[in-house]
Amino acid sequence: MPKRTCLAIILAAGEGTRMRSAIPKVMHPVGSRPMLGYVLDAARTAGAGTVATVVGPSADAVSDYAKAAGSAVFIQKDRLGTAHAVLAARKAFTPTPDDILVLYGDTPLLTGKTLRRMRRALASGADVVVLGFRPPDPAAYGRLIMNGKRLVAIREMKDASREEKAIGFVNAGVMGFSGAMAPLLKKIGNDNAKKEYYLPDLVALANRADKTVRAIEVHTEEVIGVNTRAELALVERTFQEHARQAAMDGGVTLIDPDTVYFSHDTRIGRDVVVEPHVFFARGVTVGDNATVRAYSHLEGATVGIGATVGPFARLRPETTIGPGARIGNFVEVKNAVVDAGAKASHLAYIGDAHIGAGANVGAGAITCNYDGYFKHHTEIGAGAFVGSNSALVAPVTIGEGAYIGSGSVISKDVADDALAVGRGRQVDKPGWAASFRKQMQRRKKQSGK
Ligand code: UD1
Ligand code: CA
Repeated sequence: MPKRTCLAIILAAGEGTRMRSAIPKVMHPVGSRPMLGYVLDAARTAGAGTVATVVGPSADAVSDYAKAAGSAVFIQKDRLGTAHAVLAARKAFTPTPDDILVLYGDTPLLTGKTLRRMRRALASGADVVVLGFRPPDPAAYGRLIMNGKRLVAIREMKDASREEKAIGFVNAGVMGFSGAMAPLLKKIGNDNAKKEYYLPDLVALANRADKTVRAIEVHTEEVIGVNTRAELALVERTFQEHARQAAMDGGVTLIDPDTVYFSHDTRIGRDVVVEPHVFFARGVTVGDNATVRAYSHLEGATVGIGATVGPFARLRPETTIGPGARIGNFVEVKNAVVDAGAKASHLAYIGDAHIGAGANVGAGAITCNYDGYFKHHTEIGAGAFVGSNSALVAPVTIGEGAYIGSGSVISKDVADDALAVGRGRQVDKPGWAASFRKQMQRRKKQSGK
């Protein structure tokens, strides 16, 4: 059988007023990624060779994002309804695709798998397929009017009779139809409560033309649409539940799964232990057998095999922690490579640096990487020892095996195996404290206070 061609149209021109936001709705993140990203992915997974995103007139961020993902972009100037929005992409209808899928940009948990189910229905003879679900509260969703296995019509809440309102099987907003149905879109009118051109009206028109229209049921969770911040939080929660389950299925121990947050792209190896209250922002990879201890925040970082991070650690973008290295409490690392077995166990800032294998960065040590204008690099050689509370003023190089005395301010390079101490010398005065005490106590008595 020849492969069927597929066009996916993603509707994202709605204003999203109920989000009360300056950011377009579909750009709000779930799992640290814009919602639209998931929908674009689902369309690709479904095998859509062409993807068209319909955006509003001043949605540059949305256009740019969609284009970067390889989608064509069409602008819907006036928002006259979902059928009108689909027609904004009509140029993508030639050459006529075998399958056309219409998705909403605000329904990020929809899977490519479900879309493939819809395409299978089209391949086996359905002309129109609608995704339906049975939410606990059918609220304002369009009601699916069935006659046995046939979907006869979809009635929007505002146009529904009392009997129709009682129907619990509703429109998820995802529709598939064969390319041959496209001419029917132009026949959709706006004779309804909202005076909008409703895409769901395609169902009644197709029935009138004796076409086969079917409904496919999915789990509510997959088709929750985001219209408000509360729904955004609900979708985030569902996303996180799936991510936690996937991590555990992959051999990761989550001591308290509900307190660990993942990004869409977090990659974690086997036998990694993640303690409670850890946040993985974008771009984190954790190698096998590593431990991420409680209350750590990681972003754009790679953690090597068997390394330990935290508790209370912060790894910022462009950070690589080598195998077996240890980053302890209240240590921040940014744009730095920490080689195998190196340690920064407490209270340090490592920014724009390379720490050689086995080096030890003491408590309170800091790379002074910024002069107010430019960022500079700090190089710490393998096996070096940086004493507590040292300030390494970049650009600076600490040689291999070198030793930095505690409390030093190091602004010049230190040779391999050398000792550098950059602080005032200690002065000792035997008996000074005792005589000082005596003198002060006498004065206090005389003053009578
Ligand atoms: C729509 C369906 C309803 C379904 C529900 C599922 C219609 C008429 N109703 O209702 O049956 O149960 O989704 O969530 O389709 N959009 C545009 N341009 C427009 C209008 C909308 O791009 O002119 C986009 C929106 O950005 C959004 C999507 O289409 O992504 C759906 O629009 P929305 O107004 O949210 O439809 P609902 O009233 O939720
Ligand atoms: Ca909606």
